[in-house]
Amino acid sequence: LAGRLGDRLDVPVYAVGGFVRDILLGRPNLDLDVVVEGDGIAFARALADELGGRMRAHHKFKTAVVIFPAWESERQRGDNGIPDAAPPALPVAGDASNEATAEAAHRAAERPEQRIDVATARPEYYEYPAALPTVELSSIKMDLYRRDFTINAQAVQLNGAHFGRLVDFFGAQRDMKDKVIRVLHSLSFVEDPTRILRAIRFEKRYDFRIGAQCERLIKNALQLGMMDRLSGARLFHELKLIFDEKAPLPCIRRMEDYDILRLIHPLLKLNPAKMDVLTELERVLHWYRLLYLSPAPEPWMLYLLGLCGNGKYLDVAAVTDRLAFSRKVRQDFLTLRENVREVYNLLNLWMQRDGSMSGLNNLLSPIAPEGILYLMARAKTEDARKHISYYLTRLRGETPDITGNDLLAMGISAGPAYGRVLRRVLAAKLDGLARTRAAQLDLAHE
Ligand code: CTP
Repeated sequence: LAGRLGDRLDVPVYAVGGFVRDILLGRPNLDLDVVVEGDGIAFARALADELGGRMRAHHKFKTAVVIFPAWESERQRGDNGIPDAAPPALPVAGDASNEATAEAAHRAAERPEQRIDVATARPEYYEYPAALPTVELSSIKMDLYRRDFTINAQAVQLNGAHFGRLVDFFGAQRDMKDKVIRVLHSLSFVEDPTRILRAIRFEKRYDFRIGAQCERLIKNALQLGMMDRLSGARLFHELKLIFDEKAPLPCIRRMEDYDILRLIHPLLKLNPAKMDVLTELERVLHWYRLLYLSPAPEPWMLYLLGLCGNGKYLDVAAVTDRLAFSRKVRQDFLTLRENVREVYNLLNLWMQRDGSMSGLNNLLSPIAPEGILYLMARAKTEDARKHISYYLTRLRGETPDITGNDLLAMGISAGPAYGRVLRRVLAAKLDGLARTRAAQLDLAHE
């Protein structure tokens, strides 16, 4: 569709970046980035019309994002996988006047949106020193040259006659074959130090290796203090991407090899004890995800808890400042960490002195899932771990079999007493003292 549109508007159109890299590596990637040698915003506008979506333009950078409802099923697609017609636009809210419309609205609301980023490649004029003639570089070449690594600097043309033509000016094909991460020019990491973390992420994700020259440039940039120049927000964003990877641990080890963790903040430096906890964290997170338990935890919180280890409150606060957390996220993270430390000690006491399910529930229910998984990874004994996993899989979803309506029917007037009674009933249910609804009603009566 993008290629046909390019033909109609008479502009060359390319898929670029990670999308092309992943197709060539046989991996799924739905983030399509498109570069247009021409007016990218006009192209994006036309594309949004075709797709029944909308478009947001950034005129200063001549970029745009096209957002459209994800395609629904094979039914809407032509034989070549490209929809023959634009997918139906989202129904207007409040217009669900008959069942069919209501059903469509419901399905549309559930359907995720897809986005296509569109950029404009402009021809650039390269002025060589010493009176050599000014040269015009093809705009797609210039666009690709600005990118981080060769594997991310390939394009595939989408226009009809050239559909599928691979554009590789910088040896990406060779590097993919040799499984090497290589930059395009020696100032790449100085221009953008987030690329140091990106290099590590791609190396581990694809099981490539950072090339020798690339590694020298990374070390050089680190020595020049480039990590300190990186804003907290960008640094945090990159770290989150690392923690979102399937296996962040090898990335964390690699960061340690380059001494990056200490450079972010000395508290984060790795040691064998932290490494053990992080390894266990990864196992626990995997277990949690396999069971499809919800809510989905934020991996960054888990890994950051692990990296902060037993650090002092003020040092952890300094880490949150270095990463420019918003006031709320900072508060939530610091509170979670304090709560987890307290519950960690109380849990041992509970095991020695109490052992009741209601006691376990009281201890763990105020803690966010990330904190509970962290506790599980740090549990001293297999027994403690089993109790926490029992809480996550069984206790957490439990509610009393009676409700506020039952209390109302008993003539108890609505108010704070409801919470107290229902908590007591739940505790009795968890401890096996009032398993049935009848028993719980009796208890509420008391
Ligand atoms: N890019 C770059 N330098 C950066 C970030 C991005 O040159 N610091 C370029 C790369 O060509 C990259 C493209 O912009 O392929 C898109 O970036 P992004 O969407 O962040 O990453 P992807 O490469 O698609 O990686 P991922 O699979 O992690 O999304």
